[in-house]
Amino acid sequence: MIVLGVESSCDETGLALYDTERGLLSHALHSQVAMHEEYGGVVPELASRDHIRRALPLLEQALNKAGVAKQDIDAIAYTQGPGLAGALLVGSSVACSLGLALDKPVLGVHHLEGHLLSPLLASERPEFPFIALLVSGGHTQLMRVDGVGRYTLLGETLDDAAGEAFDKSAKLLGLGYPGGPAISRLAEFGDPDAYKLPRPMLHSKDFNFSFSGLKTAVLTVVKNREGGMANICEQDKANIARGFVDAIVDVLTAKCVSALKHTGLKRLVIAGGVGANRQLRASLDAAAAKKKFKVYYPELEFCTDNGAMIAFAGALRLQLNPDAAQRDYGFNVRPRWPLDEIEAA
Ligand code: KG4
Ligand code: ZN
Repeated sequence: MIVLGVESSCDETGLALYDTERGLLSHALHSQVAMHEEYGGVVPELASRDHIRRALPLLEQALNKAGVAKQDIDAIAYTQGPGLAGALLVGSSVACSLGLALDKPVLGVHHLEGHLLSPLLASERPEFPFIALLVSGGHTQLMRVDGVGRYTLLGETLDDAAGEAFDKSAKLLGLGYPGGPAISRLAEFGDPDAYKLPRPMLHSKDFNFSFSGLKTAVLTVVKNREGGMANICEQDKANIARGFVDAIVDVLTAKCVSALKHTGLKRLVIAGGVGANRQLRASLDAAAAKKKFKVYYPELEFCTDNGAMIAFAGALRLQLNPDAAQRDYGFNVRPRWPLDEIEAA
């Protein structure tokens, strides 16, 4: 069975073809980062318009790369939510129109389920059950995963998401958008002892997070410098970046370790854009070696938004329940859609 995946929830347009026998056949992606950069963040209306321009050429690319004809597609999975309403509407309407035109069934997929299952696209697949840390630009959640659609939320952020904290702190340091990768690179040159920033909720004895205070701590450090940002030399910027990255990585690692301990599970899966962060990976790998658990990451290219994870999540659902896709082309998007409200497959 060949499933076409369509992702358009934020600022990436992704189309991909996944075959349940042969695996991922192809994926095509366009990132709008360069377009939104001058505004310092995603402009929803521009995002929607760009998805319209990109979707069909990317479909052609994915089909050509895979050597597959449109008629060979068996089902179409698209991101139904959560995300930007206008952006979601583009991918959903493209997917449902294609379904109608080709007479193929369609299936709405939860964006976070796509992220959550993306490490299973890697060559080394974790078995269920596992603990998942979902760290993206919009979400930070710790979950127990017992199967496709069987997710129990253990804890989440009470304010900013991890990616948001990376982006906002990077912005304070004048690093542009999205700042996650940039602040991470800069931190490599920083002195770990120069700034000890707070580790919010490290000892809260639950699995929740709070990152807005950390961003404020960065702001305070910057403000307290005489002359503000203008007076901060490159080395000092790197030191602040290092202080920030060390703090956030410490909290994320500690909460993962305590979720594993609490559930008695030995497998940890990392998903979402911040999962690409090298300091986080190094810290989790070190904890895994020490505490004897195993960590699984998505391939780097599938950490951030992409169509492959949507095609894959759709394919897994269809394998478990062939009726999951329907010839019902009257789509509705769900910009707000808690992950624990989705149905088990
Ligand atoms: O999962 P994703 O592509 O989009 C959402 O669904 O939100 O995640 C994007 C987020 C951004 O906040 C970006 O700064 C962050 O992931 N990110 C990183 C890294 N790569 C992407 N944060 C830290 N280090 C990175 N290497
Ligand atoms: Zn995402």
